[in-house]
Amino acid sequence: MAVALVTGGTSGIGAAFARILAARGYDLVLVARTASRLEDMATEIRAMGRTVEILQADLADRADVSKVAARLEDPDNPIDLLVNNAGFSVHTSLIDPDVGAHDRGFEVMCRAVLVLSGAAARGMLPRGTGAILNVSSTAGFITLGSYSAIKAWVTSFSEGLSIELKGTGVTVTALCPGWVHTEFHERAGVTTSSIPNFLWIDAEPLVKAALKDVERGKVISIPTVRYRALIWLARHAPKSAIRKISGSISSSRRKPVVQ
Ligand SMILES: NC(=O)c1ccc[n+]([C@@H]2O[C@H](COP(=O)([O-])OP(=O)(O)OC[C@H]3O[C@@H](n4cnc5c(N)ncnc54)[C@H](OP(=O)(O)O)[C@@H]3O)[C@@H](O)[C@H]2O)c1
Repeated sequence: MAVALVTGGTSGIGAAFARILAARGYDLVLVARTASRLEDMATEIRAMGRTVEILQADLADRADVSKVAARLEDPDNPIDLLVNNAGFSVHTSLIDPDVGAHDRGFEVMCRAVLVLSGAAARGMLPRGTGAILNVSSTAGFITLGSYSAIKAWVTSFSEGLSIELKGTGVTVTALCPGWVHTEFHERAGVTTSSIPNFLWIDAEPLVKAALKDVERGKVISIPTVRYRALIWLARHAPKSAIRKISGSISSSRRKPVVQ
């Protein structure tokens, strides 16, 4: 029986991974902070006839990350697919003296991804099979402050890991979504009204496209032709043009100050 471990598997993209993987016969290990939401998701997945383990963990806490890493390396309970999905927007000024939000972003979306990917790879290598999927973002191809820098790291890290694991049977994919309907934007307190409808995608088709790319062993997955075209342009346009576009996206997302 195949087993997938999904971080942030209780909401948005992670919840879509949990549901779709369960429907495809995977048993699940779900990781997130909120116990009640983990229980609700586990009940839903168990009703689909699958086994679910819950690991309540805050991936900004290094001891909790070690606990999840140990689960990934457990030789008696192998994990076939790791989905490093937990994350959030870091929408804080780069000159704010309080760097707490940036620190949390690095811990959850960089350090935890590094530690958990390594643990998963060490667990998978002796079996000569497995897949690691890191949820990055198209934001990593433009310049929206810390969040873009973090996601550029996730994509670059995933490419590096795919080179290190080439020929071992363990694949690595960086999933780079554009705007997806989830709780992400509301949690970050950013407005999305200026984002045109055609740039939004639902989590379910995104996840199905990503899993197809994982099966093909694709290293960078950018679902939808629209976004592949936009990212092609972003990679080939002058950097000064990308900075200008990034600047206008950033200012359009700030909530107006209510006096
Ligand atoms: N939505 C988009 O437009 C979009 C676009 C590109 C990329 N992404 C990326 O997609 C991933 C998933 O985002 P989403 O849109 O699905 O957001 P979401 O609906 O807000 O879900 C985030 C999930 O991550 C978990 N999580 C957050 N902080 C955590 C922590 N410190 N430790 C453990 N779990 C944590 C949350 O559960 P708890 O709060 O209970 O911990 C929740 O399950 C993120 O990496 C995000 O950067 C999103």
